[in-house]
Amino acid sequence: MTARILDGNALAQRLQIELAEKAAQFTAQFGHPPKLSAVLASDDPASAQYVRMKRRDCKKVGIISETFEMDASSTQEQVEETIASLNDDPRVHGILVQLPLPPQIDEERALQLVALPKDVDGFHPINIGKLAMKGREPSFAPATPSGCMELLKEAGVNLSGANAVVLGRSNIVGLPMAMMLVKANATVTICHSRTQDLTAQLRRADVVIAAIGRPNFVQADWLNEKAVVIDVGTNRIDDPSDKRGYRWVGDVDFEAAVKVVRAISKVPGGVGPMTRTMLLVNTIRAAWRQAENA
Ligand code: GUN
Repeated sequence: MTARILDGNALAQRLQIELAEKAAQFTAQFGHPPKLSAVLASDDPASAQYVRMKRRDCKKVGIISETFEMDASSTQEQVEETIASLNDDPRVHGILVQLPLPPQIDEERALQLVALPKDVDGFHPINIGKLAMKGREPSFAPATPSGCMELLKEAGVNLSGANAVVLGRSNIVGLPMAMMLVKANATVTICHSRTQDLTAQLRRADVVIAAIGRPNFVQADWLNEKAVVIDVGTNRIDDPSDKRGYRWVGDVDFEAAVKVVRAISKVPGGVGPMTRTMLLVNTIRAAWRQAENA
């Protein structure tokens, strides 16, 4: 049997139609569009590419976006000044500090400076703390795990009581993902490089979220036929047969897994477009909240 393929591009496009309507309504009512400002303080080409794609998506739905391209040798003070000026600008509704920051920057100090109503990435320690706590809700939840949740919804997964395995424990994906799955009443196991007998954990998983950044790492025979697999990995591998000389693959061996599991997301075109769309959702929500509370 072949798995259902979860197409993040198609789902993102559907959601973006609604978002464009909400952005247009906002603009008509308040006389200026929702605005997202990104702070890019590294010379990492992948980060620059993410920010470019985020900007393209903003334009599609009628959100203004701007990028503060700072030198990779910027000081803590310079990064903090940029964030503070965005906090103070009433026309800016969402602030995104692109991670990773260069090593001389204290990430925690920078992220906790972002004004809570503008924390559309959900990385402020208060928002992450609320995400981790029962009965509390963050103002905004991080975009990548939110996008994964939308893909699971699209797959029709009943998360209550499901065995969910999250592969990876990063602050951006693995940890917040696990917290969201717990809140959705799944039984969650977080696996990482020190996990013993990873294959045994994966074989009993109803839901697998792969977010470790290792190309084609998860093998098809580690998965079961009921599994719904969300592949967060975006790994560039050399491929002389491709005219660019490379192609993108996920953390899961897609070609083999698609023959085994119930559903699997594509790479590219799965989690990536959904991550960017959830950022747009958060930005438009931020704009409405700020305008209504002004
Ligand atoms: N770097 C990789 N993913 C993300 C993300 O979702 N937000 C930010 N700010 N940086 C990232």
